[in-house]
Amino acid sequence: MPLAPLLSTTLTARELELARALRERLPEAMDTHATRAFERRFETWVGHGHARAFMGGRAALAMAVRALDLGDNAGVVVPAFTCQCVLNALAFAGAQPQYADIEHAGLGLDVDAVRQAITPATRAVMIQHSFGLVGRDFEAILQLAHEHNLKVIEDCAHALGARHRGLPLGVYGDVAVYSFERSKVLTTIHGGVALANDAEAAERLSALAEAAPLPDADEIDAQLISVMHDYWVRASGDAAGAERARALWGERVLPQMWPEEFGISVPPRYGQRMPSAIARIADAQLDRLDAVLARRRAQAAYWQDWAGARGIGHLDAIDGSEPAWLRFPLWVDPALKADRHALEDALDVEVGVWFTTPAHPVARSEAHCPRGMDACCRIVNLPTLLPAHHPHAAA
Ligand SMILES: Cc1ncc(COP(=O)(O)O)c(C=O)c1O
Repeated sequence: MPLAPLLSTTLTARELELARALRERLPEAMDTHATRAFERRFETWVGHGHARAFMGGRAALAMAVRALDLGDNAGVVVPAFTCQCVLNALAFAGAQPQYADIEHAGLGLDVDAVRQAITPATRAVMIQHSFGLVGRDFEAILQLAHEHNLKVIEDCAHALGARHRGLPLGVYGDVAVYSFERSKVLTTIHGGVALANDAEAAERLSALAEAAPLPDADEIDAQLISVMHDYWVRASGDAAGAERARALWGERVLPQMWPEEFGISVPPRYGQRMPSAIARIADAQLDRLDAVLARRRAQAAYWQDWAGARGIGHLDAIDGSEPAWLRFPLWVDPALKADRHALEDALDVEVGVWFTTPAHPVARSEAHCPRGMDACCRIVNLPTLLPAHHPHAAA
């Protein structure tokens, strides 16, 4: 049996059929008609703000930052526990990331470190809800940002459906971004939403969305093929179907990152608007959010007991929060993180390494952020969607 995967297994036969049908009448699905309907549904679901969908969380982040009109070379405080695609999104929008250290209880920004990181160039703080958790200092950082007149960007790429004090994450900041990439809470393979919480940012975000190009027919087709491929390979549990899908479509499956992104230049497809074809898949996925979150939370509770019984360091939700538990983070010895195969074999699950550097997966050291560097060496993460028959599946 293959190891239980880290990537999302939320695609169902419904999305498979939808992708098949959409491929047959692609010209009709290359507008933004269904995209607008999906965006309105997203706004209603969040209960706040103005949503615009793009072809990735990173593209949505670049648009959200531009919607804040921060000015050239605006400093944005970021946690020393993030990934290159986040730093790229800020840089492509003309902002300068300013690293601050994290805290170990929730892997969020440390409020004192944020205070120290603020310079006259700082215009915003990016709060990243890693693994769908709310950081220990979330409210203190909102307060600090308010006192310093800084904008707040919530990176909810891991946190679709997570809540704090009864409200969905994403409504606390000035702007927020969500991801539907294939490693996320729900998936369309690539896709993301930017949410603007005030009228000015909303107006700019709308203008940016209207000006953004749509992917061409070939690109949309490749993404629909990737949806079908991912359904068979990861979600279906059908080994013969997976084999067939690999042979038929393996070569057209889209990568998670394009080569230019490692060289820190803008890839050709960056910043595209989400077309109706992909919004239809996103809409079908959103129907499953509550069920998917319930499974992820139950699995996190299982892993909590499992880790607690073995004395393995792990994280708990802070008071008042309901995490999405995209993955279940564990503190382990650096040697185990460097070679996690023994743990994978013991648990029968893929073990994730988010994040290995403050600019994962690109090598980077930020000596003034020792807790972030420590987490990069010692945090691994377990999947929270396991097949029902898996020996570690929550009851
Ligand atoms: C914390 C964080 N923010 C943003 C993103 C970007 O999302 P996307 O892959 O949809 O571009 C990622 C991607 O993994 C991420 O981990």
